[in-house]
Amino acid sequence: MSGGAPTHESDLSEKFRRLIEVGLALTSESDVSALLSRILFEARRFTCAEAGTLYLVTPDGKLRFSVVQNDGLRRSEVLVGNASQPITIEISPTSIAGWVTGTGSTLNIPDVHDLPGNCGYQFDSSFDLKSGYCSRSMLVVPMKSPAGHIVGVIQLINARRPGTEECTTFPKEQEELVLCLASQAAVALNNARLTSELQLAYSEAIHRLARAAEFRDHDTGEHIERVSRYSAAIAEALGLAPSDVSRILLASTLHDIGKLAIPDSILQKPGKLTAGEYAEMKCHAKMGADLLAGSENPTILLAAEIAFSHHEKWDGTGYPRGLRGDEIPVAAQICAVADVFDALCSSRCYKTALSSEEACEFLRKESGRHFSPQVVEAFFAVIDKITRIRSELPA
Ligand code: C2E
Ligand code: SIN
Ligand code: SIN
Ligand code: FE
Repeated sequence: MSGGAPTHESDLSEKFRRLIEVGLALTSESDVSALLSRILFEARRFTCAEAGTLYLVTPDGKLRFSVVQNDGLRRSEVLVGNASQPITIEISPTSIAGWVTGTGSTLNIPDVHDLPGNCGYQFDSSFDLKSGYCSRSMLVVPMKSPAGHIVGVIQLINARRPGTEECTTFPKEQEELVLCLASQAAVALNNARLTSELQLAYSEAIHRLARAAEFRDHDTGEHIERVSRYSAAIAEALGLAPSDVSRILLASTLHDIGKLAIPDSILQKPGKLTAGEYAEMKCHAKMGADLLAGSENPTILLAAEIAFSHHEKWDGTGYPRGLRGDEIPVAAQICAVADVFDALCSSRCYKTALSSEEACEFLRKESGRHFSPQVVEAFFAVIDKITRIRSELPA
């Protein structure tokens, strides 16, 4: 803030304005862990708190250390655990965070080493002992959802007098502001959780659908998974945006979904296809596109594009439309390289597998003919990653 010291009132209205801004920013963050860090960071900024901890209530009724931030510690070896080894504490009225969770009330403590004798909760100094940090003042508020559920606790530690290192008490008027921020955070958290749950369910459903379709063709779904992950690796190497990369990861699983409409007699024919059979086989591209057409979802639309164009060739000799060069959607150019590389390295009912060196040789030879030179180059830029994926998902 520039200029002289703001009056108390304009300071407060400035804080409300920022609170609204932060609330809006929180609703647009759909990555849960980024959201939690942001919540704690903003709460600390509001109150000039040197440190803070955000706890979440777990499904089995404990409190989990979810974010710990501390500007006062030089080394950030702060113990928070991780997804596989979370650190939890019981929701017990004898701990400060537990008391706030249980009662839904705010605690504004001037000095945790000087608690009133009859309060029932105690300061757990084990964290300070481990880190060498000295906690003094605390403002601890519940994160309450609109339905009144406590979803977590924000614990702010050591209010600093603005512009100094001096520790002070959290001013009373900050209680209401932080409580308000915590409720907005609870809503944003719930939304982010629902969104990520939906995205997971959606992505799993698509993978399962793709694998089911693939099952008739090869006996495992690993071809689908490899092509999907190769495509994402190539897309990343081409410098596509992370959101496009994840879209390609998902959409490319459906590239051969049109094979659902191809009879087993052709799909599983042990030998070479006749011209007529191959002509019928080629219809899988258009049929896949038709199956996925007309969606309003960008991932499904991308999948339609990939299904339609993954057999097009850079020089215009592919099918079904004979597109050439950059007329071919980039995701389909990518999927073509990933698909053919994997098909070459795999044995099929109609052919044996090439070695990966031979398959690489084929990609090089066909660069500028079958494949986009840029995409082939990107493929070789991440060949180590491709090899790793191949070893993780063996045929
Ligand atoms: P797929 O087996 O997944 O192969 C995908 C693409 O990889 C093929 O598209 C082709 O471009 C490339 N590819 C696969 N194996 C070889 C190979 O040994 N040599 C070369 N140069 N390229 C290869 P394509 O040709 O349009 O075929 C589309 C799909 O049609 C294939 O998918 C497969 O399911 C089927 N198919 C193609 N040829 C035959 C065949 O002779 N017999 C049978 N039963 N199916 C075939
Ligand atoms: C939750 O976030 O799990 C609770 C949702 C609510 O109570 O509104
Ligand atoms: C391989 O990964 O096996 C082939 C490497 C290359 O030809 O570039
Ligand atoms: Fe195909």
